[in-house]
Amino acid sequence: MAGRIPPELIDELLSRTDIVDLIGTRIQLRKAGKDYQARCPFHEEKTPSFTVSPDKQFYHCFGCGAHGTAIGFLMEYDRLAFREAVDELARRAGLEIPGAVDAADLGPDHRPLYQLHEQAADIYREQLRSHPEAQRAVDYLKRRGLSGEIAARYGLGFAPPAGNPLLSRLGTGPIERGRLATCGLAVDQDGRLRDRFRDRVVFPIRDRRGRVIGFGGRLLGEGKPKYLNSPETPIFRKGHQLYGLFEAQKANRRLDAMLVVEGYMDVIALAQFGLTNVVATLGTATTPEHLQLLSRAAPEVVFCFDGDPAGRAAAWKALETALPSATGRQSIRFLFLPDGEDPDTLIRAEGPEAFRTRMVRAQPLSELLFEQLCGRVDMTSIDGRAQLATLAQPLIQSVPAGVYHDMLVGRLAALTGLAVDRRQGTPRHGRVRREPAHPSRPSRIAQAIALLLDHPELASEAAAAPDDWRRSTSPGVAILVQLLETIAAYPTISKAALLERWRDREHFAYLQRLSVDPFLRDIPVEGLAAEFSGALHRMSEEVRKEERRRPLNQPSTGAWSDEVRARLEQEAEAARTRKRSLE
Ligand code: UTP
Ligand code: MN
Repeated sequence: MAGRIPPELIDELLSRTDIVDLIGTRIQLRKAGKDYQARCPFHEEKTPSFTVSPDKQFYHCFGCGAHGTAIGFLMEYDRLAFREAVDELARRAGLEIPGAVDAADLGPDHRPLYQLHEQAADIYREQLRSHPEAQRAVDYLKRRGLSGEIAARYGLGFAPPAGNPLLSRLGTGPIERGRLATCGLAVDQDGRLRDRFRDRVVFPIRDRRGRVIGFGGRLLGEGKPKYLNSPETPIFRKGHQLYGLFEAQKANRRLDAMLVVEGYMDVIALAQFGLTNVVATLGTATTPEHLQLLSRAAPEVVFCFDGDPAGRAAAWKALETALPSATGRQSIRFLFLPDGEDPDTLIRAEGPEAFRTRMVRAQPLSELLFEQLCGRVDMTSIDGRAQLATLAQPLIQSVPAGVYHDMLVGRLAALTGLAVDRRQGTPRHGRVRREPAHPSRPSRIAQAIALLLDHPELASEAAAAPDDWRRSTSPGVAILVQLLETIAAYPTISKAALLERWRDREHFAYLQRLSVDPFLRDIPVEGLAAEFSGALHRMSEEVRKEERRRPLNQPSTGAWSDEVRARLEQEAEAARTRKRSLE
């Protein structure tokens, strides 16, 4: 994403920026030792665990794990794109970012696509006001009980049954027509382009910053498909968006809870009844990206599903997706609707108060988890309860280590009547291999990388240490070498600037996370150098040992860096899975 903005320019920008000033203009920071603290702006908390380090030019919340550089902060807090964050910092620092860098070197420039969607949304809105056939759409919306005010708030429009308003107004040249086709706003029909949406009420889909990135279109009556949506495009990925998030955040400065429903109409109907804290998943299963958006949006999430078997199955999938990020900090609950109702019909039938009561009574994630599992076994028999433990084990293990995890384990113990190994999430058993109670220390190579990222000045230790470790083929080693080279070329580089050089490379997220790994906190300042050079010494020893064991012509496998490799592969696989699920 960062394309080829020269890294020196980013260095310069970061060295002219004080992250404490920057964050201090947005939230109140208090000095604590050499760092600054505040209550974390990214999650709900009573005592401050959000820390900003002027030395490292880096922020980190020990509570929710949020972390990053000044650029990262602007991207998260102000919801800016990378380029916008850079421009904002440049503006603050009075730096000129050369125009030449702008267009060519930034990778694909999606601004024309955003603009196209904005214009398309305008045209659809205008059609709803003035097209000769728009009355049918207006009547339809009225029949569904929507007010003009709410239709305007969500920017609803109308795609007329005939004519091609988008193509004729926006498809002024081959490039423009190509863009309309790329975005699925125009489709090829028998060799001719036509507008895609016809005779439908059109719902603009906005990203969390309010930019229109796609559309959904509903037929005015029965028929198939009932809804037509924008396809996946360079600026629209269904699994990464929540319909209504922008509107919900605009209507509420602070959101205490967010309700997640399935449909466009549900979001809009609830908003009309005053429930403005509602988003929809656009007809896809809940994804990790949805959960990420939600975890930033509100301290509490209520997922709303049909009470029928399909709804229960969808809820279970959402639960499984939520477990790996379930820390108990954000409450996750499930609301099942009576048969045949959706939020839209229900709130009209029973009113907003009754609906709110349902929200308050929604079932906590842990209860749903055990209710479903207990339903699958015979809890009156020993065998059934043992089966419960077996079923629960992989699920509970996917919950991050911590209080919430331990409470689930405790609950399982109570249900099975067995003493349970808190660390494993399974009843104690002679043959079960014990896992460490806390996430294990990273591997040696990962420790070395983490130390160097967090304290670039440690690079000077590397010169005095043996360098046999460099002969490994592990991906972790390549990163460590690159880090050392970068620091050698820019000896005063800050942690933030060092990390920013990885932003558009592979493993950026992994490196940022590694740079705040909890093991770093256990090392006293005066022990850092010894720790780093010790890691290099031991890694070198391992390589020499490995080489003695195998004939020289066989490449070393870098056995000690298996963990890094496994973690990187895991991330790559997760990325592939995400990509596949979008296809
Ligand atoms: P629903 O069938 O529950 O629709 O689909 P709804 O929102 O209640 O719509 P109304 O009340 O009949 O107008 C839920 C969501 O699934 C997606 C849409 O995002 C819809 O809002 N969907 C549904 C489609 O994308 N295509 C379809 O044909 C149907
Ligand atoms: Mn509906």
